[in-house]
Amino acid sequence: MFKVSARSFSASASNAYKVAVLGAGGGIGQPLSLLLKLNHKVTDLALYDLKGAPGVAADVSHVPTNSTVKGYNPDSLEQALSGSDVIVIPAGVPRKPGMTRDDLFNTNASIVRDLAKAAADYAPNASLCIISNPVNSTVPIVAEVLKSKGVYNPKKLFGVTTLDVLRASRFASEVAGTNPVNEKITVVGGHSGVTIVPLLSQTNHKSLDAETRDALVHRIQFGGDEVVQAKDGAGSATLSMAQAGARFAGSVLDGLAGETDVVEPSFVDSPLFKDEGVDFFSSKVTLGPEGAEKIHGLGELSDYEEGLIKKAKETLVGNIKKGVDFVKQNP
Ligand code: NAD
Ligand code: LMR
Repeated sequence: MFKVSARSFSASASNAYKVAVLGAGGGIGQPLSLLLKLNHKVTDLALYDLKGAPGVAADVSHVPTNSTVKGYNPDSLEQALSGSDVIVIPAGVPRKPGMTRDDLFNTNASIVRDLAKAAADYAPNASLCIISNPVNSTVPIVAEVLKSKGVYNPKKLFGVTTLDVLRASRFASEVAGTNPVNEKITVVGGHSGVTIVPLLSQTNHKSLDAETRDALVHRIQFGGDEVVQAKDGAGSATLSMAQAGARFAGSVLDGLAGETDVVEPSFVDSPLFKDEGVDFFSSKVTLGPEGAEKIHGLGELSDYEEGLIKKAKETLVGNIKKGVDFVKQNP
């Protein structure tokens, strides 16, 4: 039978895309795969993990949406990746109580580096959405690998910070007694502690008293710790992260499909603070057929937010350098 691949459609901005999930057998990967199966733009879902992906694929494949789902083991990473339009990477270890995201670096850096090499070889035009922590360092790792392979397209590399955006909506709504669905809070910077900066002054929450504001900002910055502590050694956020990852990947697909006004904050190769040595920074990004079409500035900030951004940049410089140095020393 004549078969037209999903890839051949994507160049002309259609609604048929191949999405690969690397780490699909994990706590994030499984629900993320389910949510992607529910996205009608995904016509070919490739689920890859060191173990367990064929089982997840068989399970998810019974959901009656118009897509094929296939599971891949390490002997077939090339097939999993070939022709992918979007690759989502939640592979790697999660935190336990008492750990920072940076404590995951030693394990996750090489996992992400090796998956980035494979993506460069087998799907050099794909949009890459990096979930694996520490995002502030894993995104620069992927960039360095892609550069070394001569296929780096900064418009198609994204650190997924959407969970911070979801938390900001949720937590602010709890403080203000509003419906979180109606909250639109931009979160910028990076994805860990003080690098997470919600821009409350640009919302209806600009008049919070200082104590309430500080507590809310702190909760958004350290929301991940709440889940790590509650899971008590069994990992970190998986279900809310799956929702965040599916939303972000869905927005990337909406952009590829030529939809207009698709805007999400994301940790990207950014011009905003490059002159200060901060090569990657999260801010609102307009997503389009070529990936990141426009990186938005931060808009007007309060003095308080200027202070938060200063602290975020100080930490980001080191996080980014750590990722870049890792690839230089461990190519
Ligand atoms: P998990 O341990 O439940 O799952 C990770 C999966 O990755 C496992 O199935 C494992 O087999 C797989 N894996 C490991 N090495 C691999 C490789 N080389 N190739 C393919 N698969 C591989 O962990 P999780 O809870 O799903 O978290 C995954 C990562 O996501 C962690 O690093 C965590 O810190 C991060 N995370 C990020 C965010 C964010 O906002 N960006 C949010 C939550 C978690
Ligand atoms: C999160 O924000 O929930 C994730 O980055 C996982 C973690 O380690 O907190």
